[in-house]
Amino acid sequence: MLRGISTFALLSVLGLGACASTGGDAVTPNSETSEAVAFHPFMPGVMPDRVILNLTQDPSTSMAVNWRSDASAPEGFVQYAVATDGPGFNAVRETLTAESELTHIQDEGEPLVVAHYHSATLEGLTPNTQYVYRVGDGSHWSEWFQFTTAGLEGEPFSFIYFGDAQNDLKSMWSRVIREAYKTLPSVNFMLHAGDLINSEDSDIEWGEWFYAGGFLHAQVPSVMTPGNHEYSRQMELSQQWRPGFNLPKNGPEGVENLSETVYYVDYQDMRLISLDADMSGDFESSARIQAQWLDQVLRENDKRWTAIFLHYPFYSTRAGRHHENLHTFFKPIIDRYGVDIVLQGHDHGYSRGMVANVPDGEMIRDERTGTMYVVSVSGPKMYPVEDLAWADRKANGLQLFQVLTVDGDTLSYQAYTASGRLYDAFDIQKSDTGPNQLINRIPEDAEEIWEPDYDQPSSYRRP
Ligand SMILES: [Fe+2]
Ligand SMILES: [Fe+2]
Repeated sequence: MLRGISTFALLSVLGLGACASTGGDAVTPNSETSEAVAFHPFMPGVMPDRVILNLTQDPSTSMAVNWRSDASAPEGFVQYAVATDGPGFNAVRETLTAESELTHIQDEGEPLVVAHYHSATLEGLTPNTQYVYRVGDGSHWSEWFQFTTAGLEGEPFSFIYFGDAQNDLKSMWSRVIREAYKTLPSVNFMLHAGDLINSEDSDIEWGEWFYAGGFLHAQVPSVMTPGNHEYSRQMELSQQWRPGFNLPKNGPEGVENLSETVYYVDYQDMRLISLDADMSGDFESSARIQAQWLDQVLRENDKRWTAIFLHYPFYSTRAGRHHENLHTFFKPIIDRYGVDIVLQGHDHGYSRGMVANVPDGEMIRDERTGTMYVVSVSGPKMYPVEDLAWADRKANGLQLFQVLTVDGDTLSYQAYTASGRLYDAFDIQKSDTGPNQLINRIPEDAEEIWEPDYDQPSSYRRP
């Protein structure tokens, strides 16, 4: 441990702080060596790190922020103001005290990490307004970041949806999130459909996830739903999840183990709902609680558009990977309320198609009455994909990100590859008199891609 402290102190003196990296991949949680190391490249420091914005239930008037610091900073503050064209905001900034929590987290083969996590929610904000903010302990501050609150109903907005990032986050997922941001610089938020990392408590992997997105996490708000890799084999949620994020706490009342994994956000014309798929896949009681809550949240929904995101797919990219509990508990509710789109991960491949809103509608493709189901992957781990009947468009071996834009009665969707090439697109059109209409816009020159299977690095396996 002494070695860790002295190395860290040296980095701090050099001004490299908590974001200092060895620049190499020598230390990984999947390393063959079982000897614990005392220091890793993403240890906390006095400077705030892992700064991330999360959407609140009403992102037009509030914004959630979360960050980390080392054990020396028990208190955290957010300073914020309406953005100005010059430094004038500094004279009118407000200061908010965060809720701070001391954590001791140690994953197998990694050093003990003692850190404070801080979370705060800025409230009373003005819709469609740009703000600046910074976080710190009063002496050590982040830079000023900028974000824009959600607008009003009727105004267009866009977001990026990522399937599993999970592996080689620093070296191979980074280009995907950065290309996504370049494709759509006015993105309103980012959505992650689970398996953000491979080993739930690995501080190195979480460090890589934050490193890959860098300052984007601090200026573009995110929502995320946990996958099976955010859970331990004993079904315990990652110790990094609730301290590391500040997600809405409007899930099933009094159900502690679904807090910040089951929730909804109203973003302008869309109600966006996170379900905890892993809990529902393994525990029927959890699925029942979530189904009852989902039914209520959809019954009270007055938004024009509805999206659900969860990790396990209702319809898989390969036969034999369906999750029966999802069909038993959630599909009837999705059908009853005509949910527009379901965004998923887990299969490490790409498939999407519209499936009929009828009981036993399994695998019945229906372009005029159904719900659109999408499965995608953004990281480098790939599974084989099969040519199943439910899906209009598939891909094997591609890292992808998806851009969704809601503008009045039209939801437009594009899937891009890691290199920025358009691979898939469609529109969903709403009408007051009938069901949604699907308009496929698959690029004419883009043949379906079936990359050959290749040997995955052994580190992609769960330790
Ligand atoms: Fe995964
Ligand atoms: Fe998964």
